[in-house]
Amino acid sequence: MKVVVTGGCGFIGSNFVRLALETRPAWRVINYDLLTYAGNPENLADVAGAAGDRYRFVRGDVADKEAVQKLFEAEQPDAIVNFAAESHVDRSIKDPVRFVRTNTVGTQVLLTLARELGVKRFLQVSTDEVYGSLGPTGKFTEQTPLAPNSPYAASKAAADLLCRAARHTFGQDVVVTRCSNNYGPYQFPEKLIPLMLSNAMSDQPLPVYGDGQHVRDWLHVRDHCEAVALVLERGVAGEVYNIGGNNEWKNLDLVRLLLKLLGKPESLIRFVPDRPGHDRRYAIDCGKIERELGWRPRHTFEAGLSETIAWYQTHRGWWERIKSGEYRKYYAEQYATIAK
Ligand code: NAD
Ligand code: DAU
Repeated sequence: MKVVVTGGCGFIGSNFVRLALETRPAWRVINYDLLTYAGNPENLADVAGAAGDRYRFVRGDVADKEAVQKLFEAEQPDAIVNFAAESHVDRSIKDPVRFVRTNTVGTQVLLTLARELGVKRFLQVSTDEVYGSLGPTGKFTEQTPLAPNSPYAASKAAADLLCRAARHTFGQDVVVTRCSNNYGPYQFPEKLIPLMLSNAMSDQPLPVYGDGQHVRDWLHVRDHCEAVALVLERGVAGEVYNIGGNNEWKNLDLVRLLLKLLGKPESLIRFVPDRPGHDRRYAIDCGKIERELGWRPRHTFEAGLSETIAWYQTHRGWWERIKSGEYRKYYAEQYATIAK
């Protein structure tokens, strides 16, 4: 099977390419990635060479119709897994247009060309953020109405609706996955866990938004990737599959745990102004993928977090290089109240 993976140089995409090359010997993977600030070929440097003909990298934009057409005509893929996205909520608040272009227009470009050029299956990697925010109880199911709150979430929800329309109007073989917060190796240090780990390791302040009582459900990235592979292989066309960790944490409790595991003091915590429109709680019911496809997360949070901390400790050069570049300008603006 020839699989085009878009966004394969980002956090989850690179973990997915690695999993595919390690566990799916019959797949050839074509990684199509624009290499934005979040895309890093270093994430796959070790596997890329070793995979030989089973792996190819092509630099390009999912919203560039001509470039995608050229790729599909040359490779004639059997399937597309669309990870490519602008993925950070805070950046979407500053520059929403870029999010609509990549996340929404890019998805439609891929859907249209997949149909026109006979690509059999299309998997859209979506997010639980399309469902909006929960109160203290309840969980998102696949039937929960879409109610996105940030420009990021709205651009992803629009893409989900375009996938639905592609199925309804053209009978395209489309499946959608909606996952909760991922953690693990190669996550860009703008996201909560790698930001807090890298700041704490450098004895820098840890910026907690608002009162720190917002809740997220955390899943190891490798468990997410295994779920995506299963849905690609066995998911029913037209269906949506929620993916989650049954692992809810208040941000402040999680930050305190990270500090404890690193042996760093809680005095590093700084409360900073809240994210505008900040969703209070996400929790996902992933009973459908468990029942229908037999998926289960393999990593406990305890083991997954220890392994992740060890990775950031042994890959200091990886995140220090990122944090010394364009990132410094972003950080100074985003965290003006604490950034030096
Ligand atoms: P990321 O920001 O780490 O990586 C995104 C990748 O997409 C980068 O390699 C980037 O270069 C590439 N990209 C961006 N714009 C592109 C374009 N126009 N054309 C081609 N490539 C482009 O993101 P991530 O955290 O790995 O998220 C991957 C996907 O998973 C996204 O679709 C996101 O919405 C979804 N998701 C993420 C999480 C999470 O916790 N991070 C949870 C659920 C779903
Ligand atoms: O739920 C899935 C989503 O998870 C994905 O679709 C997104 O791509 C991904 O970025 C993530 O979105 P969040 O906004 O939940 O993740 P983030 O790591 O940015 O923030 C997690 C929580 O931590 C959130 O409540 C905001 C808070 N936070 C975040 C940052 C960066 C802070 O308190 N301080 C911070 O500096």
